[in-house]
Amino acid sequence: MKIKIGILTLSDRASDGVYEDRSGIAIKEILNEWITNEIEYFYKVIPDDYDLIVENLIKMCDSDNCDLVVTTGGTGPALRDVTPEATEKVCEKMMPGFGELMRMESLKYVPTAILSRQTAGIRGKSFIINLPGNPKAIKECLEPVFPAIPYCIDLIEGGYIKTDESKMKVFRPKQKPKH
Ligand code: MTE
Repeated sequence: MKIKIGILTLSDRASDGVYEDRSGIAIKEILNEWITNEIEYFYKVIPDDYDLIVENLIKMCDSDNCDLVVTTGGTGPALRDVTPEATEKVCEKMMPGFGELMRMESLKYVPTAILSRQTAGIRGKSFIINLPGNPKAIKECLEPVFPAIPYCIDLIEGGYIKTDESKMKVFRPKQKPKH
């Protein structure tokens, strides 16, 4: 089955064309490597603007019907970093374990991992997860938490995600029939 994935890059400078959005591209590359379903991507680079983030998250969830929405950037303490606030605004349910595990694992790489306020949550049948903006952080954060993401999306009745187990082994406590 085809699954839909939103990638939302939050960066004033990337959206201005000051630099290329390497993080959004890294997310796509990693997901293409792990996921074996056909994937339709919805990709956007926007500035660190609360209202714009809220608007785009809602569109990716409610109009594009994304099963998974991954954001990158805007999770830190700087004045313009408002991605976690916008995520909380649109989510009906927060999933704080994802942020906790990502920070814990990231601390093995950089002491400043503690500065990321990244979180995750659910809006309808969409699962939203925040990643920091550093391209290097993408794999460091996604790798430890991804094994739980497909089952989380099963539970909210999103699309059934299948992976190449030699690259990313996911965990489902109860095997659901594959469709
Ligand atoms: N997490 C990982 N895995 N790797 C990193 O390099 N950078 C940290 C942190 N988390 C980092 C990381 C830094 S320096 C900051 S300021 C915060 O994420 C927030 O980044 P953001 O505002 O770009 O989202």
